[in-house]
Amino acid sequence: MTMTFRPLLASLGVSAALLTSASAQALEVDKAIEYRQDALRVMAFQIGPLGDMAQGNIDYDADEFALRANNLASLAHLPWEAFIEGSLQGDDHGVDTDALAKIGDEWDGFRQRQETFQQESATLAQMVDDGEEFNALRRQVGAVANSCKACHDDYRAD
Ligand code: HEC
Repeated sequence: MTMTFRPLLASLGVSAALLTSASAQALEVDKAIEYRQDALRVMAFQIGPLGDMAQGNIDYDADEFALRANNLASLAHLPWEAFIEGSLQGDDHGVDTDALAKIGDEWDGFRQRQETFQQESATLAQMVDDGEEFNALRRQVGAVANSCKACHDDYRAD
């Protein structure tokens, strides 16, 4: 963001030094919130067909299942770097967030939830690689979904 802003500000006659660190930081926080919400929606899009197959809403398709499971496992680490200081509910920023303020008191617990989710989605992708049968895969989709829910129950506003 600063990359594109600096030339723009310079062309307006505003020197980069006038971009106070406070406003630069506010911009960073808003970007981070938007980014992580986008990343979470991308994950939700990928788990959608897995959940539908697991629940029998759509037919099991091994190729589709493998694609989604691998995508989810690759994405699983992405949102978390954007949960930064000053980006939780009650902090001062320009974007709405459902990230509860208590994450700030419980970073370890929050990180634990991330790791559980990453492990469950890595396990699912591994099981696909190992050629496990659909019934086992279905159960593991449930484990992944539970790891999403466990974090939401603790750290996301309803
Ligand atoms: C480690 C905790 C954690 C895990 C694991 C987690 N989430 Fe979330 N999720 C959150 C938090 C916190 C928010 C609120 C983010 C915000 O508003 O800034 C959220 C928001 C979302 C949103 C709304 C994004 C938006 O604002 O449009 C979706 C969709 C979502 N999560 C889906 C999922 C799915 C699907 C999984 C599992 C595949 C998952 N999440 C796993 C914590 C988690």
